[in-house]
Amino acid sequence: MRQQVESFDMYTDQQNMLQEVLHGLAQPQKVLQAKYFYDQTGSELFEQITQQPEYYLTRTEIDILSEYQSAIADCIGPVHTLIEYGSGSSRKIKSLLSSLHQLEQYMPIDISKDFLIQSAHQLSKDYPSLRIKAVCGDYSAPLLLPVEEKQKKVIFFPGSTIGNFHPQEAADFLQQSSQLLEKGDGFLIGIDTKKEASVLHAAYNDQAGITAQFNLNILRHINGSLNGTFDVDLFEDVAFYNEQQGRIEMHLKSRIDQIVTIADQRFTFKKDETIHTENSYKYSQEEFQWLAKQNGFTPIRCFTDPQHHFSVHYLEKTRV
Ligand SMILES: C[S@@+](CC[C@H](N)C(=O)[O-])C[C@H]1O[C@@H](n2cnc3c(N)ncnc32)[C@H](O)[C@@H]1O
Repeated sequence: MRQQVESFDMYTDQQNMLQEVLHGLAQPQKVLQAKYFYDQTGSELFEQITQQPEYYLTRTEIDILSEYQSAIADCIGPVHTLIEYGSGSSRKIKSLLSSLHQLEQYMPIDISKDFLIQSAHQLSKDYPSLRIKAVCGDYSAPLLLPVEEKQKKVIFFPGSTIGNFHPQEAADFLQQSSQLLEKGDGFLIGIDTKKEASVLHAAYNDQAGITAQFNLNILRHINGSLNGTFDVDLFEDVAFYNEQQGRIEMHLKSRIDQIVTIADQRFTFKKDETIHTENSYKYSQEEFQWLAKQNGFTPIRCFTDPQHHFSVHYLEKTRV
């Protein structure tokens, strides 16, 4: 049988990671970008997070996708290529794969290369006639994707991962995505909603401590890839809901005064000083639709669960 998984490596620049990490740690509030959580271990830890009872996001989004699978397929109509940003295990795509009309190819895009390729081959076993083009790349910058022009495309971006961007970056990202699309193409996106702080707090502070391990993994990833000297036991996971900003913040707090070296550069940490590792912005239905409208998309329909804990929006590229 013809090999149905092709892979494209558009993420080869280790130098970029070094520059971004050094720049982030030189800021008055030290910061690391959330994309650096994800090496093979980070991707595996994220999968474990999705199984935690407190982490309602994944199961609620999967329930919405499955409850409304034919309504979503009808909104989308016939589609040639489905592109998924931050595809991870490609688990959520499955309810779409069985309901979308005339789908020919699936293009998962992820920064975590080995996990991406592994997931693509696994998916191919269940969907042997689907052409899969797995792209290892960083979607925060424009990517030249191997797509065919004049064929209908839909981007799928689940997991509320867009919430990792500051709202202005999310606006730029929507603009950038809209430029990849043509008239009639669509964008299906999962968005975590604003809700009681206690529910949000619990989701990012699971009792089993998996999210804490995930957070600390960013230091292990930097040690492994950039020859860093972080002692992971000397940092502590902190996650809280910043209600004013409408975002969960994740930080790593230094337990002592210490010095860490990366590529010959020394970074001094005071006891209790933090590195800001992730934001997860939450949006009401109206807030997200407004953002989409300002940035190249027309909201077509929003699907949600009975408690309105999560939302899945179908948008179309705005006709000009
Ligand atoms: C929060 S997880 C979501 C995984 C899966 N889509 C889900 O909804 O369960 C984010 C995924 O996006 C990937 N990712 C994060 N930042 C990325 C970036 N800048 N470019 C490409 N992939 C990225 C990660 O490797 C990870 O698989």
